[in-house]
Amino acid sequence: MSLQEELQQLRRTIDDESRTIASAQDAEAFRLRHLVKKGTIQACVEQLRSVPKEQKPQIGKLLNEVRTLAESIHANAVATYAAASAVKAMDVTLAGRGVRPGAMHPITQTVDRLVGIFASMGFDVAEGPDIEDDAHNFEYLNFAPDHPARDMQDTFFVDASERSDILLRTHTSSVQVRVMQQMKPPIRCIMPGRVYRNEAVSARSLAEFHQIEGLYIDKGVSMADLKGTIMAFARRFYDENAEFRFRTSFFPFTEPSCEVDMSCFLCKGQGCRICKHSGWLEICGAGMVHPNVLRACGIDPDEYSGFAFGFGVERVVMMLTGIDDIRMLYENDVRIIGQFAP
Ligand code: DAH
Repeated sequence: MSLQEELQQLRRTIDDESRTIASAQDAEAFRLRHLVKKGTIQACVEQLRSVPKEQKPQIGKLLNEVRTLAESIHANAVATYAAASAVKAMDVTLAGRGVRPGAMHPITQTVDRLVGIFASMGFDVAEGPDIEDDAHNFEYLNFAPDHPARDMQDTFFVDASERSDILLRTHTSSVQVRVMQQMKPPIRCIMPGRVYRNEAVSARSLAEFHQIEGLYIDKGVSMADLKGTIMAFARRFYDENAEFRFRTSFFPFTEPSCEVDMSCFLCKGQGCRICKHSGWLEICGAGMVHPNVLRACGIDPDEYSGFAFGFGVERVVMMLTGIDDIRMLYENDVRIIGQFAP
C-alpha cells in the first residue's frame, strides 16, 4: 500500500474513532494511538522521507490534514470530558460549607421580648387592622376635626371609591379604641403593629415602622401606676439600675401627658453616641387616658380611669444594636441583620 493510500485509510479510521470517544479515557487512548512519537501519524512522517520528491508536496499536505483532524478531535474530546473527570477528582474528605440556620429579624426578636415582659406583668396582646378609618385613628382619640395630623402631608389616605376617611393607621393608638369598644374594664393590653406615615425616607425615619401601644383601664388607676409599670418594664428590658424622668408633654388622647426618659443603659448617664451625649434616652410617650376618649369608647370616666403608652420599636432596636441608620433594618443584608441572630 502506498503512503497516500495509507493516509487515506488512516483518515477514515480517525474519523470513525471520533464517533466512539465517550470519556476522558477514550480521548487519552486516541491520543496515545495517533498523536505521540510512536503513534500512527509520526510513523507516516517517517515514511514521507522515502517518498519521491515530486510527490512530497501532495502527500505532505495530506499528512498535515490528517494530523490537524486528529488534533482537533482530541482537543474537542478533552474539552467535553474534562469537567466529568474533574468531578471524579473531587476530594470527598474536604469539610462541607454548612447551612447556616435562619433566625428572626431583630425587629421581630425585639417585639417578642417586649411582649414577653408585658405578658409576664399580666398584659394581654391585641391587634387591629393596618387599614383604618378616621374615627379610630383620630376622632375617638380626641383629635380636633382640624388637627394637622390628618393632613395629607402626614397621613396616607387610601383611595376607597365611596369613602374619603380610609387611611393607613399612623399609630397603634387606633387599636386602643377597638379594644375599649370591645372589652369591659379591667383592661390590660399591649398592641404591637405596623404604622405608616407620609415621611421622607432618611437615616432617622421611614414611611413604615412598628409601634407598641399599652393600655390599662380599671377603677382607681393613677399616674403612679403608669410610672410604676413603665419603670418596672424598662428595668427588666434595659437596665435594672436605670433612673427615670417624666417630662410633661401633649397628646390629644391623654391628660396629663408625658414623655419618659431613662438614664442611658450603655454609658450609665455619662454621655455616649447612643444617647447623643445627653446621658438620657427617650423611651415612650404616655399619659392618663383622656375622659373624652373613655366616653367615646363607651367607658364611664367617672367610674374608670387608665393610662396608655406607646413607643417605636425601630428606635428600641437601634438603641440596643447601635445601628444608626434605620434603613439598614429594612434592607435585609444578612451581613448586618445576621449579627443579631441569637
Ligand atoms: N400615638 C403616639 C405617637 O404615635 C404615641 C403615644 C403617646 C401613644 C402617648 C400613647 C400615649 O398611648 O399615651 O406618637
